[in-house]
Amino acid sequence: MDTDKPILVLGIETTCDETAASVVERKGDGTGRILSNVVRSQVEEHARFGGVVPEIAARAHVDLLDGIVDRAMKEAGVGYEQLSGVAAAAGPGLIGGVIVGLTTAKAIAMVHGTPLIAVNHLEAHALTPRLTCALAFPYCLFLASGGHTQIVAVAGVGNYVRLGTTVDDAMGEAFDKVAKMLGLPYPGGPQVERAAAGGDPTRFNFPRPMVGRPDANFSLSGLKTAVRNEANRIAPLDQKDISDLCASFQAAVMDSTADRLAVGLKLFEEIFGPPRALVAAGGVAANRAIRGALQDVAAKAQTTMLIPPPVLCTDNGAMIAWAGAERLALGLIDSMDAAPRARWLLDANAGVPVGYANSRAGF
Ligand code: KG4
Ligand code: ZN
Repeated sequence: MDTDKPILVLGIETTCDETAASVVERKGDGTGRILSNVVRSQVEEHARFGGVVPEIAARAHVDLLDGIVDRAMKEAGVGYEQLSGVAAAAGPGLIGGVIVGLTTAKAIAMVHGTPLIAVNHLEAHALTPRLTCALAFPYCLFLASGGHTQIVAVAGVGNYVRLGTTVDDAMGEAFDKVAKMLGLPYPGGPQVERAAAGGDPTRFNFPRPMVGRPDANFSLSGLKTAVRNEANRIAPLDQKDISDLCASFQAAVMDSTADRLAVGLKLFEEIFGPPRALVAAGGVAANRAIRGALQDVAAKAQTTMLIPPPVLCTDNGAMIAWAGAERLALGLIDSMDAAPRARWLLDANAGVPVGYANSRAGF
C-alpha cells in the first residue's frame, strides 16, 4: 500500500455492549480525520440485569449492526467502492458479539473486493491518541475499562509491551461491583463517582492494593471485598454511609493507581527512555478524581497527560477504523480465515520464547 495516498477505512466494534461503526481517513502525512462515528450503547438492554448479558449483547449486535454501518457510511458520504479497507474488532471480547462484527466485515470485504483488517480491540485503544493528536511513538498508555486494566508501552504499530495489568478484577468492574453492593444502578462507575462527590474519603481506611511493589500490577478484588465487609458491618446504610463508602473506595483506587502508574512510567523509561506522553483510555478515564491522580503522576514524571475526548475513550468504531488504517498503511492485512478471539493479548509475542508464544496462539 502506498502510504502517501489517503486511506479510507470502515471500522466495526462489537466486542462488548456498544454496537459501533465509523469511517476514518488516514492522510498521507499520517494524520487522521473522522468522517462519521456512530455508537449505539446497549446500556438499556442490560440495565435491568445489573450487568452485560453476553447472549443479549450478541443478539442486539445482530439486530443493530446493519443499520449502524449503513448510517456510518451515509454520514461519511462514502460509497463502499471508495473504501481502502474494512476493519473489525476481532477480539478480545464477548465471543458472540465479536463473531457478529467480524463476519459482517468479512461479508463487506468479500462483496466489494476490499482488504480486511482484523483489529485487536486493545490495539485500537492504544493507537487512538495518534488519531486525535498525531502523537509520536513511544508513549505510555493507561487503559482502564470494564474488562481491562493495563499499563502498556506503545512503541509502534504492532509493537506493544505490557508493563502492568490487573491480577484479578478490572478497574471498571470493581466500580460496577461496588455500585451493585451499595444498591446503585448499572453502569456503576459514574454512580460511584457521583455518590463519592459528597462523601468523606477518610471515614473508612480501605487497603491501598499493591502500593510499594516493584512491579506495575494492579489488584482490586481485595479492596472490593473490604468495601463489602464494611458495608455489611454498618448496615442498614443511609445516604451518608453510601457516599462515604464510595468516597473512601475511590480514594483507595486513586492512591493505588497513582502508585502503580508511577512504577509503570519508571519501567517505561528504563526500556524506552522518556515517554512522549501518558495517555489514558477506557471508561474509567472519565472519572474526574482518577484523572486528577493521573495528572499528578504525569507531572511528577515530567511528561504530558493526554486523554482523548470521552467518546473516543469508551468503545467506538473510529478507534477500530483508525487501527485498521494504521495497519493497512504498513501493508498489514488479514485473510478471510481471521478468527474471532475471546482472549487476545496485545503483546502475545513480546519477550516470550517463540515456542511458548505459539502454544498460546489465540489467547
Ligand atoms: O471503556 P468502557 O466504556 O467499556 C468497556 O468496558 O470496554 O468502560 C466501561 C466501564 C464500566 O465498568 C464503567 O462503570 C466504568 O467504565 N466507568 C467509570 C466511570 N465511567 C465509566 N468508572 C469510574 N468512574 C466513572 N466516571
Ligand atoms: Zn474497550
